[in-house]
Amino acid sequence: MTADEAARFVKNGDQVGFSGFTPSGTPKAVPAAIAKMAEEEHAKGNEFQIGIFSGASAGDALDGALARAKAVKFRTPYQSNKDMRNAINSQEVSYSDMHLSHLAQELRYGFYGDIDVAVIEAADLNEKGEILLTSGVGNVLTYANMAKKIIVELNRKHPVEIKGMHDLFEPANPPYRGAIPIYKVSDRGGAEVLKVDPSKIVAVVETNLGNSVAGFTPMDAVTAKIGQNVADFLASQLRLGIIPKEFLPIQSGVGNVANAVLGSLGENKEIPNFTMYTEVIQDSVIGLMKEGRISYASGCSLTVSDPVMDDIYGNLGFFKDKFVLRPIELSNNPEVIRRLGLITINTALEADIFGNVNSTHVLGTKMMNGIGGSGDFTRNAYISIYTCPSTQKDGKISPIVPMVSHVDHSEHSVNVLITEQGIADLRGKSPIERAKTIIENCVHPDYKQLLWDYLKLGKNLHTPHSLQCAFGMHLEFAKSADMRNTDWNNYLAR
Ligand code: COA
Repeated sequence: MTADEAARFVKNGDQVGFSGFTPSGTPKAVPAAIAKMAEEEHAKGNEFQIGIFSGASAGDALDGALARAKAVKFRTPYQSNKDMRNAINSQEVSYSDMHLSHLAQELRYGFYGDIDVAVIEAADLNEKGEILLTSGVGNVLTYANMAKKIIVELNRKHPVEIKGMHDLFEPANPPYRGAIPIYKVSDRGGAEVLKVDPSKIVAVVETNLGNSVAGFTPMDAVTAKIGQNVADFLASQLRLGIIPKEFLPIQSGVGNVANAVLGSLGENKEIPNFTMYTEVIQDSVIGLMKEGRISYASGCSLTVSDPVMDDIYGNLGFFKDKFVLRPIELSNNPEVIRRLGLITINTALEADIFGNVNSTHVLGTKMMNGIGGSGDFTRNAYISIYTCPSTQKDGKISPIVPMVSHVDHSEHSVNVLITEQGIADLRGKSPIERAKTIIENCVHPDYKQLLWDYLKLGKNLHTPHSLQCAFGMHLEFAKSADMRNTDWNNYLAR
């Protein structure tokens, strides 16, 4: 049937689970039709809002369209869309920012009520209810199992030859959960297709829509230097024998810095060919696979630009035995992350001189995207690394501050902080030692003296904060739009 006809199965107040992870694997035609239907209902004076459950960000076709239609009551676990972000920050949408690995199990535990409808992007399906997923998985197994109704978007952009690319299984709920049988990144423990009760499928909508994943902006000097510093740090750990000579799987976050980091790891001749156990497989991973630098990647989605996707689908013979796509519950699973010993590399919006990291809230109050998988990986890593540039907004913001304005990853989980200025290894250090290492190695020269002066304010305390001044740099930015104008005396006098 058409997307408009299928959308009619979604009712006001429904909780709807969408397959996929990023725009990859996420339905595109049905969400747009739901948005249109919502606008029509609103025009008639009727209420129409739904709860959206996804794998992670879902792209403009879902988050953007539904936010603009004011059709969203509740959103979880992650988003990165401008219109959805604005709706969240104006309290129009109630947003629960979650560790991505938690959502599927917490839904099964009953924390969030029912899933009324699951909308699933498929490359193929049959009358037995076997659904071949596309390029992103997310939480689709749990949504499909819990949903009362299933709508399938059969997207012809994805060839049926991708069968075998997925490894799909759902861990049982406690007290019956067993070990997840993944002992190396390429191990598989599940099915190639999603199996659903065919009687629940109420609609099949045919489409031919690409993921429209944006390409990367060219690397600038700052991101290139951050990437090089990460690669140099890992090479030094190899030389010391702290990282075994076989090397360890890499998890790398999303975005330009992550892309630059992977490029630098690929170029560094001291680092052997490596594997990835990560959330999102992005363009740089595919390039490094072709060069032989990455031998295998396990992820939750292929979030690659359209030309790279065409390259993969055109050369499936080469790529098919080099990666696997799993549910987020497995790609981000703490048990597997700790067993495999992942080196995790994620990006901070803000870090403090004691090693706490804010990944989500701009200046403490405005939601950017969400914690995503960064907490899943950081807390369970072999070595957890955070990167950020040493300044933002033409030098007017220092992402390194006395006290983060929101905490996502605490000092207990963050091992290493890296900016383009250098590397701060925080392992085994006391708060004051961590502060000295961070200021000396990572802070921009414009902010060094300011932070050295801050450190003296706490005198002989274990964690030497001045509670009057801790947010002084943030308050100064609110006042003069430049943190460099901070004068601690203004706050000490209060
Ligand atoms: N204070 C105020 N603004 C800041 C800031 C700070 N400390 N740090 C960054 N910003 C602003 C930037 O100037 C930029 O503004 P603009 O959009 O107006 O240009 C914006 O925030 C984004 O910064 P940028 O450096 O471009 O971020 P990014 O694209 O590298 O993303 C995160 C960084 C933290 C937002 C992103 O990595 C994220 O969402 N992380 C959480 C989820 C995650 O880690 N997922 C991966 C796990 S697998």
